[in-house]
Amino acid sequence: MTMRIALATCSELPALDDDDHGYVRALRDRGATVTLPCWDDAAADWDVDLVVIRSTWDYSQRKDAFVAWAERVDAGTTLLNPSSMVRWNTDKQRYLTDLSEQGIPTVPTAWLPLSSERVDVAALVARHGFQDVVIKPIVGAGSRDTIRVGAKDTATEAQFFVDQQLSTQALMVQPFLPGISEGEVSLIFLEGAQRLAFSHAVIKRPALGDFRSQPEFGSEVEGHSPTPTERDIAERALHLAGGRPLYARVDLVTGLDGQPTLIELELVEPCLYLGWSDDAAAAFADATLRRARKPR
Ligand SMILES: Nc1ncnc2c1ncn2[C@@H]1O[C@H](COP(=O)(O)OP(=O)(O)OP(=O)(O)O)[C@@H](O)[C@H]1O
Ligand SMILES: [Mg+2]
Repeated sequence: MTMRIALATCSELPALDDDDHGYVRALRDRGATVTLPCWDDAAADWDVDLVVIRSTWDYSQRKDAFVAWAERVDAGTTLLNPSSMVRWNTDKQRYLTDLSEQGIPTVPTAWLPLSSERVDVAALVARHGFQDVVIKPIVGAGSRDTIRVGAKDTATEAQFFVDQQLSTQALMVQPFLPGISEGEVSLIFLEGAQRLAFSHAVIKRPALGDFRSQPEFGSEVEGHSPTPTERDIAERALHLAGGRPLYARVDLVTGLDGQPTLIELELVEPCLYLGWSDDAAAAFADATLRRARKPR
């Protein structure tokens, strides 16, 4: 029987991220029919054996519509990762607070809910004891609306940014972690025969003068052998996330205490850096086909 697999994309990236091309080839080599519908295309056909969320990178500006879409698709067929995970993981305040409360080292964060009231940013930063800060959306991806501000510019540049943004999106303020210049480690997990298993890891070093680790901003990406501590944090975080994900990525940066710190746990649409492993694309295709039309 031919398996029909839909890989959900978005209109900005309808042909997937290049890194997923080996995965598509591996699915087709295994006899599957692969389609690439945009998640918000009203005419898209979701009547397939499995929908895998891939390059839906524009969801963060329309989170509620995206979560509603995930729930609709999940009700009709198998969606991976499942909509319950999508709901939890698209809200950084919710999932990072949950993980932190359960002992995962995370970045100290001041949360700023959506508001039309003015927030005194210098006072907030002083209250938290931060110096240089990063300000970014609570629902975000790809470093959208993410800025780094030096301690002396909190009352001006940071205040201007928050004044501009907060009436349209909730924000989070973190101390800037200088460890980012050594690189952000991403550990990729894929479902194995039984359960999620570590597949491979990369380290992404921002371009000189930048602090953003994504390759879109010129970072250098290399294969990485995670330390036992990195593995342990990632595995504990995934255990706490629960459920049965098909894929996951855990991002770690050296924290202010010099220890690996979780900056993100990505269960929605992460780049999985499949090209940095000899067998990950094939393993991901095998895992995908095992999950198609099977009870979750
Ligand atoms: N507290 C911080 N200190 C230093 N750098 C940071 C900090 N927070 C974010 N960054 C940088 O900004 C980038 C984007 O932030 P983050 O990964 O938290 O959000 P994102 O936009 O959702 O990213 P992704 O595309 O990985 O989903 C990070 O990859 C990192 O390079
Ligand atoms: Mg990130």
